[in-house]
Amino acid sequence: MSPAPVRRKLHTPPVPASPFPYHPGSLLSVNDLSLDELNHVLARATALEKQDPLTRDRILAKRRVALLFYEASTRTRTSFELAAKALGADTALVSNLSSSIEKGESLKDTGLNLRALGAEAIILRSNSSGAAWLLEESTRLPVLNAGDGMHEHPTQALLDLRTILAHLRGGTTKVNEKTLAGVTVTITGDILHSRVARSNALLLPRLGAEVVLCGPKELLPEVAASEGPDSRGGVTIERDFEAALKRSQVVMMLRIQAERLAGLQLDLEEYKAGYQLTGERLARLAPKAIVMHPGPIIRGLEITSGVADGPQSAILEQVTHGLAIRMAVIERALNATALKSAPTSVRTSSARPAKPASRKGARA
Ligand code: CP
Repeated sequence: MSPAPVRRKLHTPPVPASPFPYHPGSLLSVNDLSLDELNHVLARATALEKQDPLTRDRILAKRRVALLFYEASTRTRTSFELAAKALGADTALVSNLSSSIEKGESLKDTGLNLRALGAEAIILRSNSSGAAWLLEESTRLPVLNAGDGMHEHPTQALLDLRTILAHLRGGTTKVNEKTLAGVTVTITGDILHSRVARSNALLLPRLGAEVVLCGPKELLPEVAASEGPDSRGGVTIERDFEAALKRSQVVMMLRIQAERLAGLQLDLEEYKAGYQLTGERLARLAPKAIVMHPGPIIRGLEITSGVADGPQSAILEQVTHGLAIRMAVIERALNATALKSAPTSVRTSSARPAKPASRKGARA
């Protein structure tokens, strides 16, 4: 008689825990923020904006923040620097054009040297997608992603959200899954290369908004429709700009990123005919919509001067919201540092939920 088959207990393989972010103060992706944390950032942005500058600059007095910029920036760099200084922190700017990065020093070594100089947080702008994750892994400092290649720009999405809330929801700082229900945000232009589009597509549908991505196929591949936060959708593609405008409460225009267009055949005159936001189009199709743009704007290409400077434009308001948001995320980064007792070389992810699957649910 043959022996009875051994019944093996089936085990579902464990879901690998993402180690990122290592540091609870980091902001690598908009997905790093739970709904509670998002509300905290929005509330602190408003509180810090209102606070007397003479008391506000004691909050992070003499704390050290490094700004590491491998790519040109006007708005993000200046607002992060002003935000850190408004809280009393000392800042040091390291740019690829005036540092040993020019001599070939790696991102890891640059980060470790900044840490050795006492930096308690690093704000990173890089032209390499994923660089913020690498820097965080190398330094174990809180890293604030100020734009990584074609990947993410989380603080831009947060300041965009604050701008939308100011216009459409009375400036509330309390958001939930339904706060933006009924709001259609059309993002038009160079979606393919846009970290701004990705971060907004990940964030806004979590609050109930419908994100419509619009552009020609050269700049907007079909796969972009899967960029939303989860399988429930919230992100669609519309090639017809005028059809998209008609249903929009928010129109976000993007720059054609000439520096990233290598190999793409794009007829700019054809592009303007199909996708330029003109005063005539806006008046006819979206006379009540707010017009947004992360900057830099290229007047006469994706947007006309009349629209950029017109009454529906919230473009400069976005920049101002950036200052408040960046104060809040810098404070979050350095407070998390202060609360932790573990050495910086030790993984501290226990302060955050470890499994991406459960985190996704928590953020939905
Ligand atoms: N929106 C934005 O990131 O602009 P800068 O490149 O000037 O920082």
